[in-house]
Amino acid sequence: MTSSYKDLASHKDLVVLGIETSCDDTAASVVRRDGDGGCRILSDEVWTDYDDHAAFGGVVPEIAARSHVERLDVTIEKAIRASGLSLDGIDAVAATAGPGLVGGVMVGLTTAKAICLAHSKPLLAINHLEGHALSARMTGAAGFPYLLLLISGGHTQLIWVAGLGDYRRLGTTIDDAAGEAFDKTAKLLGLGQPGGPRIEAAAVNGRADRYDFPKPLQRRAGCDFSFSGLKTAVREAAQSMTVQSKADIADIAASFQFAAARHLAQRTEQAMEIAPAEGKARRLVVAGGVAANGAIRSMLSSLCERKGWTLIAPPAKYCTDNGAMIAWAGAERLAANLAPPMSEALALAPRARWPLAPPPEGAEIGGGRKGPKA
Ligand code: KG4
Ligand code: ZN
Repeated sequence: MTSSYKDLASHKDLVVLGIETSCDDTAASVVRRDGDGGCRILSDEVWTDYDDHAAFGGVVPEIAARSHVERLDVTIEKAIRASGLSLDGIDAVAATAGPGLVGGVMVGLTTAKAICLAHSKPLLAINHLEGHALSARMTGAAGFPYLLLLISGGHTQLIWVAGLGDYRRLGTTIDDAAGEAFDKTAKLLGLGQPGGPRIEAAAVNGRADRYDFPKPLQRRAGCDFSFSGLKTAVREAAQSMTVQSKADIADIAASFQFAAARHLAQRTEQAMEIAPAEGKARRLVVAGGVAANGAIRSMLSSLCERKGWTLIAPPAKYCTDNGAMIAWAGAERLAANLAPPMSEALALAPRARWPLAPPPEGAEIGGGRKGPKA
């Protein structure tokens, strides 16, 4: 990609406004990237109102898109004000351009285009998954290369991150995404949405050893994932009781969470075996909304300790969707002189599907809520 922003790329500090609207969160943030690659999050605004969707038991794309239209300008204004800067002090605007619910992506990307056009600033169209993939570099010192376990509501992947824009997929889910499994289990148990945090809260008082839920893909080599068998087993356990007490629900939640964490750790261990030996990197980064889960983090931490790897996990609030990770991905791209000229940026279309890394040859691809988990 050509760039007409070479001068900007050589600046010591870069300040980027990030906009995230790919699902139900309306988020904007201003982030500064120092010349040495350090990061300061100057502001971080997220507007989440799950009540809009609660009656429907899941995110309704049309409602989400309308909410973004109503809230995005206010959220951006708040983020700029809270950063202590004005638009003049911002070098570029980054916006999620996909993958995600396309109505919402369109709202964020079009708003970013309008700001950039009116104020002659570079626009960076960011892959939402790259935002998650680089989030650990924003919140800590995750040098390239590293193994990435990306676990969110629509994606579950193991990716070798060799450098900025250099991603190689090692494994993916063949059915549901990890977050989807948490959300469906919560729905089944009547815990409400978003499911992940509700399951985690319910599991605190539960016995993880009450149900011996299956270990998916035990006899399959490689590091793909599967959550559909686990979901069926949970449904059977829940339906086997005529009346579920609070303790029963807590036990099912805890047993499911344990089985999901064990599966994620087991497949990650397989990926550690096949990960390239480049630079002798033995860093595992975990990112995406499901990475906020304490039980999963602690299972991965034990795995890393046993294998002599370092686990790097962003703070929970930067695992779930946020504008800062989009701003940061934009700043990394701007610093690498990868901002497209204005004419190219304005022609960019929102994408419902946008794989971060191409699937390995002959790989199976599953379907899913936000498109194939590829
Ligand atoms: O990354 P994210 O905010 O949005 C997507 O890009 O999908 O991830 C949302 C997913 C949801 O499925 C939500 O239930 C899950 O992350 N999640 C969690 C937790 N917090 C959010 N799953 C398990 N435990 C949590 N604490
Ligand atoms: Zn996400």
